[in-house]
Amino acid sequence: MTGLYIHIPFCRQKCLYCDFFSRKYDVLLADKYIDSLIKHSQKFKNKKIDSIYIGGGTPSVLSSKQIQKLLQSLKNNFNFPEIKEFTFELNPESVSKEKLHILKEFGIDRLSIGLQSVEDKSLKYLGRIHDFKTFCCAYDMAKHEGFDNISIDLIYGLTNQSVGDWENVLKKALLFNNDHLSLYPLSIEKNTPFHKNGGITDDKIQREMYEKTVDILERKGYVHYEISNWAKKNKEAFHNTNYWRNREYIGLGVGASGYLERNRYKNIEDIDKYMNFIENNLDCAIENDYIDEKLYATETIILGLRLLSEGLSVNDFKSLQHKVILLECLKEKTLIQEEEKIKLSKEYVFVFNQIASKFIV
Ligand SMILES: C[S@@+](CC[C@H](N)C(=O)[O-])C[C@H]1O[C@@H](n2cnc3c(N)ncnc32)[C@H](O)[C@@H]1O
Ligand code: SF4
Repeated sequence: MTGLYIHIPFCRQKCLYCDFFSRKYDVLLADKYIDSLIKHSQKFKNKKIDSIYIGGGTPSVLSSKQIQKLLQSLKNNFNFPEIKEFTFELNPESVSKEKLHILKEFGIDRLSIGLQSVEDKSLKYLGRIHDFKTFCCAYDMAKHEGFDNISIDLIYGLTNQSVGDWENVLKKALLFNNDHLSLYPLSIEKNTPFHKNGGITDDKIQREMYEKTVDILERKGYVHYEISNWAKKNKEAFHNTNYWRNREYIGLGVGASGYLERNRYKNIEDIDKYMNFIENNLDCAIENDYIDEKLYATETIILGLRLLSEGLSVNDFKSLQHKVILLECLKEKTLIQEEEKIKLSKEYVFVFNQIASKFIV
């Protein structure tokens, strides 16, 4: 079984911190893009799909008609009854009852809403075009339409944000009592206005915020199942968890990555060229890396260590080199062993990259 990721590369306006691939929404361009996505998806008609994630950019910026056309073609192409989880990303300002109704009709059972902050002044600072009230309306509409599996994205560690400020943001967000939270420390990415304006973040404060978060969410009954993700029991994101389990997935759309038959690929990051390639039946995957046995073993370990509660099997450390590094990590207690499972120690989650890089041999 394979996952399917579909990239919608349009936003109403670029946020000041974001370096993800997206362009300003234009109805005619989006119409053409949807046609390309539909044609692209037909290439994978015979694949058995068990999860779909439509992300962006801003999938909800598409018109109702465009969403309906895309979902109808996916339904014709893939066997929907086999799909265990179907997620659609929403930005608060572009949610409508009509769009939610269409999503429900086509079996979308999980929504991920980008809130980022509950404070209007922080939303402005981040360059978001919605306020908190707009989020609340979108959330209520989704609930009313019958969506009960909703994830919220928040960003912490904004410039001048204190640990107490973040605690208040988190506590207010927790009032929604939703099933899933994705929480990211602000990172200043190149090619963003934040970077150009010399934006900075403070590692020490972000770490304190992270530790506070772990503490608060644990007491609220959330499982910290991945470095940046918390969920109520059995509400972990199935599609995303499969990335960390090193399973296959198809990446559809401009700039999307995929992993099929040991080939990690990335589609071209130019909308016009992408549409041209698809129209002319050319391969739009311009970066292809064959994952041999050795690299596969390393990736399995590095990805699997992100799964804090599930961990990895001891048997995933196959080579002598990986076994030696594992023993060193167990000795210094950066990793722990629970029966047949190897997990990252709680104290080292914030420095995950340092631990994981030891396994690159
Ligand atoms: C690519 S965005 C798409 C989600 C949706 N368009 C939105 O804006 O809410 C996925 C998530 O990545 C996070 N993100 C993007 N850029 C980030 C940055 N520079 N630092 C921290 N988090 C970031 C945000 O929380 C965002 O919700
Ligand atoms: S954070 Fe979301 S809405 Fe903002 S620019 Fe990035 S993808 Fe678009």
